[in-house]
Amino acid sequence: MTKYDAKANGVGCYHDWIDHKRSALLHERCPAAKRVVVIGNCELYQGDNTQILPHVEYCDLLATDPPYGIKQDKGFDGFDGFGGFGKPIQRRQYDGEWDQDRPDPEQLAMCLTAARKHIIWGGNFFADLLPPQGKWLWWDKCQTMPTYGDGELAWTSLNGSAPKKFVYSNNGLMAKEKGRVHPTQKPVAVMEWCLGFLPDAHTILDPFMGSGTTGVACVKLGRKFIGIELDPNYFDIACQRIRKAYDQPDMFVEQPEPAPIQEGFDYE
Ligand SMILES: C[S@@+](CC[C@H](N)C(=O)[O-])C[C@H]1O[C@@H](n2cnc3c(N)ncnc32)[C@H](O)[C@@H]1O
Repeated sequence: MTKYDAKANGVGCYHDWIDHKRSALLHERCPAAKRVVVIGNCELYQGDNTQILPHVEYCDLLATDPPYGIKQDKGFDGFDGFGGFGKPIQRRQYDGEWDQDRPDPEQLAMCLTAARKHIIWGGNFFADLLPPQGKWLWWDKCQTMPTYGDGELAWTSLNGSAPKKFVYSNNGLMAKEKGRVHPTQKPVAVMEWCLGFLPDAHTILDPFMGSGTTGVACVKLGRKFIGIELDPNYFDIACQRIRKAYDQPDMFVEQPEPAPIQEGFDYE
């Protein structure tokens, strides 16, 4: 057998070689994908999810954040505070066309039938297309800007009927996770929290992967991930973030909060 020359094929080590071979195999099975990249336990497809979903395995959990149809694709990169002399720090403006419409009913139905359980962020924008359910998830962003939304809602098909809340600051200077690369990027902690409701879900599907946050959360939690993204730039970013999550497992671990400083007096 000829020895495989990993370097000549653009891959560095034995695990890269396995990933490279699996990518080629999956691409053969799913020619509708423009690209297929395997990184460890993550299968990443670039292309239109309506064409790719019929070729991927049935998953335990759909955890996704589809376009809401509210034109967030051209959003600003959050509030960065003020620089010297009270001038606002320049923020990046994103460009895109993916949030002009919400998914159509057939596309949403296709996503639902691809997995046994479901968590769909922005479910309030698609409530008319989803079955009635009680167990909504609510991410409280600790917002202090009155003109911004206080948080986000996820529709779920999880057992039970009690809504659940997660408090995690995503508020300008107070934001715990900095360095957004996608205008509607979810914090990894939010995705980790919601995946925690289904500890036995081994294979997680996100057909609207964006910058790959669900994939990063899966790497951290040791789950298998299948992600699909239409936009080639966001697809590249997702690959980079997921690779980094494997290379630097502690990258997204939060720094401990400083101990609160006791001020004033205690009253009996
Ligand atoms: C709301 S964003 C997801 C952001 C993600 N939660 C994150 O943290 O980065 C939705 C993404 O769906 C992608 N998208 C839209 N239509 C798609 C389609 N038909 N197939 C695959 N991806 C699609 C868009 O390009 C966009 O990046």
